[in-house]
Amino acid sequence: MKCVIAVAALVAIAAGACNKDITVSSQADINTVNACTKFQGDVTIDGHEEGIAGIGALSMDNIQQITGDLIIQNLYGLQTVSLGQLNSTGSLKILNNTNVYKVAIPKLSKVADFQVITNPNLKELTYSNITSVNNFQIIDTYIATLGAFSASSVANIEVLSNTQLSALDFSAVKKTSGYINIANNGRASNITFSQLTQVGGNVSFGNAATLDISKLGSVSDDFSLYQNSFKNLSVPALQTAKKSITLSQNLFSAISFPQITEIGSSLDIINNTNFKSISSSTFPKLKSVPGSIIINGSLDNVTFPSLTTVDGQVQLNGAGKLSCDDASKSFASVDSLNIECDLRVISDGNEESSGGSSNESGSGGSSSKKSSASHTTVAAVLGGVVAIVAACL
Ligand SMILES: *[C@@H]1O[C@H](CO)[C@@H](O)[C@H](O)[C@H]1NC(C)=O
Ligand SMILES: *[C@@H]1O[C@H](CO)[C@@H](O)[C@H](O)[C@H]1NC(C)=O
Ligand SMILES: *[C@@H]1O[C@H](CO)[C@@H](O)[C@H](O)[C@H]1NC(C)=O
Ligand SMILES: *[C@@H]1O[C@H](CO)[C@@H](O)[C@H](O)[C@H]1NC(C)=O
Ligand SMILES: *[C@@H]1O[C@H](CO)[C@@H](O)[C@H](O)[C@H]1NC(C)=O
Ligand SMILES: *[C@@H]1O[C@H](CO)[C@@H](O)[C@H](O)[C@H]1NC(C)=O
Ligand SMILES: *[C@@H]1O[C@H](CO)[C@@H](O)[C@H](O)[C@H]1NC(C)=O
Ligand SMILES: *[C@@H]1O[C@H](CO)[C@@H](O)[C@H](O)[C@H]1NC(C)=O
Ligand SMILES: *[C@@H]1O[C@H](CO)[C@@H](O)[C@H](O)[C@H]1NC(C)=O
Ligand SMILES: *[C@@H]1O[C@H](CO)[C@@H](O)[C@H](O)[C@H]1NC(C)=O
Repeated sequence: MKCVIAVAALVAIAAGACNKDITVSSQADINTVNACTKFQGDVTIDGHEEGIAGIGALSMDNIQQITGDLIIQNLYGLQTVSLGQLNSTGSLKILNNTNVYKVAIPKLSKVADFQVITNPNLKELTYSNITSVNNFQIIDTYIATLGAFSASSVANIEVLSNTQLSALDFSAVKKTSGYINIANNGRASNITFSQLTQVGGNVSFGNAATLDISKLGSVSDDFSLYQNSFKNLSVPALQTAKKSITLSQNLFSAISFPQITEIGSSLDIINNTNFKSISSSTFPKLKSVPGSIIINGSLDNVTFPSLTTVDGQVQLNGAGKLSCDDASKSFASVDSLNIECDLRVISDGNEESSGGSSNESGSGGSSSKKSSASHTTVAAVLGGVVAIVAACL
């Protein structure tokens, strides 16, 4: 085997085959590329090329470095990929190989874009220590674990729809110049960004069982959390959110954003079934919201102790202990308040059995008696200014 590679290497070098782009169309082409220790150019292995479409095992265990991109895509018979010595490449794109189940790149440390997308049977993806990467995307695979991720600064991170993946350890990451988007992975997924301080784009986390963003101080675009199952959300360091904050369909009952003073756009807290109360320690320092504030659910209390400016509308709806009168009072320090309130008061809410199902909309079948509901709709106009209720953003 060594000899074959050595001979192939001589042939490859003689032919200048190690320094031009190649679209692989046969096993012989693979051998030629693999004969190079360092390949200068792009290597494209695409199942749309007939001569390679049927390949089941792709092994290039000699090559150490590719300066261009390595693209492995649309190979529907491919089962295994082995790149045993590859330590650095331009972009690595492993796309749409429906049957591949094993990809080994144990020495890869430096890669421009790392994209492993739509390989739904990929169970074992081994890399041991990625130290430098620009875009990191793993989407739609069957992997249960990630390799070590040591890059402290990256552009974008996207990890979506890997239904067996439950430990997402990005504790090395300190900042991203672009977005972070993580959702729809394993049911009990733990997401750790314990050193992350700064996100240059959107940040969005969905379907997590635990989330550590304890040092996150600034987000330059939208911040969203949805369908997470943790009970208590703490974002202790966040000072700056340049666009909106949206929390929807989460199971938390307590949240806290103790440092935030200003939200760049809107604050939406919607459809979080167990969330009832915004207390004085939830957003203690929040002063100003140039967009709207939309909150709904089984609200018992809404308090923003420092809030003085909301340029858009405050919309409250749902059913709980809070009445629209009390709600208007809690926004009393906001100048020119424009509030639309639709809160149904459940006066003696001893409805909190396990699970806390807020089953109110049908106004009961046989299980009524406890909630005497009164419906109040108030378009309160405070501060002596006629609010234009229809004003939208
Ligand atoms: C990666 O491969 C290149 C090209 O062969 C080599 O020069 C370099 O030393 C290797 N780096 C590591 C960390 O193995
Ligand atoms: C992915 O593979 C499917 C067949 O499994 C094919 O129909 C589709 O065109 C491929 N997608 C891309 C982007 O090549
Ligand atoms: C990964 O590599 C970096 C830099 O070489 C090193 O500091 C780190 O300890 C390594 N991590 C692992 C898990 O091997
Ligand atoms: C996720 O975190 C919880 C609580 O810290 C722990 O009990 C569980 O084992 C973790 N799961 C995984 C897959 O790491
Ligand atoms: C995220 O960023 C993009 C581009 O900046 C934007 O179009 C999008 O609406 C943002 N927000 C969300 C929640 O995706
Ligand atoms: C939520 O977490 C914060 C910070 O860790 C803590 O101070 C607070 O007591 C917790 N709240 C609940 C209801 O567990
Ligand atoms: C909230 O729930 C309602 C009713 O189920 C649904 O129509 C709406 O799309 C949900 N909105 C969000 C942001 O989850
Ligand atoms: C709401 O909570 C605050 C403290 O966070 C408390 O002072 C106030 O009395 C509560 N209001 C209602 C209606 O429970
Ligand atoms: C919450 O608000 C959203 C958006 O305004 C609406 O679609 C939904 O029906 C509301 N849900 C409840 C429980 O009021
Ligand atoms: C209320 O809850 C019960 C039991 O969980 C369920 O059977 C019923 O359909 C619910 N009613 C409404 C109106 O959601």
